[in-house]
Amino acid sequence: MNPAGFGAPFLAVLFLLAAALRSLPLAGARLQVAMTVVRNASSVGAFCLDGSLPAYHLDRGFGAGAGNWLLQFEGGGWCNDVESCLERAKTRRGSTQLMNKWEDFNGILSNNASLNPDFYNWNRVKLRYCDGASFGGDALFHNGTSPLYFKGQKIWESIILDLLPKGLGTANKALLSGCSAGGLATFLHCEDFTNYLPRDATVKCLSDAGFFLDLQDIGSTHTMRGFFKDLVALQGMNPNLNENCTAASSNLPDLCIFPQHALKYIATPFFILNSAYDVYQFHHGLVPPSADIHGRWKHCKMNPAACSKQQIQQLQGLRSSMLSALKLFYQYSSKGGMFINSCFAHCQSESQNTWFAKGSPTIDNKTIAGTVGDWYFNRRNIKEIDCAYPCDSTCHNLIP
Ligand SMILES: *[C@@H]1O[C@H](CO)[C@@H](O)[C@H](O)[C@H]1NC(C)=O
Ligand SMILES: *[C@@H]1O[C@H](CO)[C@@H](O)[C@H](O)[C@H]1NC(C)=O
Ligand SMILES: *[C@@H]1O[C@H](CO)[C@@H](O)[C@H](O)[C@H]1NC(C)=O
Ligand SMILES: *[C@@H]1O[C@H](CO)[C@@H](O)[C@H](O)[C@H]1NC(C)=O
Ligand SMILES: *[C@@H]1O[C@H](CO)[C@@H](O)[C@H](O)[C@H]1NC(C)=O
Repeated sequence: MNPAGFGAPFLAVLFLLAAALRSLPLAGARLQVAMTVVRNASSVGAFCLDGSLPAYHLDRGFGAGAGNWLLQFEGGGWCNDVESCLERAKTRRGSTQLMNKWEDFNGILSNNASLNPDFYNWNRVKLRYCDGASFGGDALFHNGTSPLYFKGQKIWESIILDLLPKGLGTANKALLSGCSAGGLATFLHCEDFTNYLPRDATVKCLSDAGFFLDLQDIGSTHTMRGFFKDLVALQGMNPNLNENCTAASSNLPDLCIFPQHALKYIATPFFILNSAYDVYQFHHGLVPPSADIHGRWKHCKMNPAACSKQQIQQLQGLRSSMLSALKLFYQYSSKGGMFINSCFAHCQSESQNTWFAKGSPTIDNKTIAGTVGDWYFNRRNIKEIDCAYPCDSTCHNLIP
């Protein structure tokens, strides 16, 4: 008798049921996918912040998509000092043990052709985020208590190694994608990704809300630069930044964590999906709490309609900074694509409402899913830039 008092046959039925439910669309077309823990990850020293094992969720492709792979990095901010990493290690952002074991697959991860027309039948993988440094660190913190593992780079490698024999190693087509901190991870790992795949495979990368700008805040402080500098130092990211970028920037190699500095060293076809008024960058890069101690931006941060004329001007400055950081890419990257819209959003590929739905955001009448698909399959050249706020009437998910 096992401790819970259930007989073996009952457990067997439960397991069969769980296996059957693994990837079934439930009522309301909800697709939930079970977690796979990488059991042998410890052999390469790949651990989450708290020492738990890395994990991913895989929903198998089918039909014409069975040989194609989409890998999506989960996002969720960063921890750039010991204190915040210790805190994070006790949450779902730092431990696979504290995560939900089933993930909803929506938007670009959906298996429904009418919700995700180009990637629905691919093998689709969500890589869980538990290192706090966009899958890019490699260090250990030890001061007598239990250690903090800064092993994002190893987590990335261990998951790839696990997927290679499952079919990734013989993929025909592949797309590495991710949103927010996961969008930053696609910039960090895009070149590396191509090296694991067959030479004749079509490999491309997509960053959603990951184009974090090297920007001065409204008080003329380089807040994001300071934040990322601490992150790179604490988590030992330097060797994992683009080596050609760091070689060319020997005085400030840390800046290569910023996509705008690393972009020209990425040869793989890349798609940049971002709002020009990205809500994270608005709230943490342009107007971090430290630059608004009197709370003058409080209402504007919650609702762009409540912004003063001057605040709107500063927001237009955010858009201008983004467009100028993308200028060379726009002009010269023949294989690149972009969709820079003007909605107050952060992450638009993972939620059905923004990815592909009736009334989802468009530029020139093209949805995000349609644009990304057209780019991936070379159906047309696409670099879409929206007109400035408030002209776009297809934005309906303004903040928060
Ligand atoms: C796919 O999505 C459409 C549109 O929401 C829905 O009508 C249909 O039932 C879904 N199909 C499956 C198999 O879930
Ligand atoms: C370890 O470091 C943390 C954060 O700096 C600190 O709070 C804690 O007291 C340290 N523990 C020991 C045993 O030094
Ligand atoms: C773990 O096992 C898988 C499947 O056998 C293998 O492909 C992978 O290389 C192993 N990972 C590590 C880190 O050794
Ligand atoms: C760096 O540049 C060299 C020469 O162009 C190239 O072979 C190599 O793949 C590049 N490395 C990365 C990480 O892009
Ligand atoms: C936009 O696309 C929809 C669906 O493809 C079409 O019905 C509509 O006529 C288009 N509108 C414009 C202004 O092109």
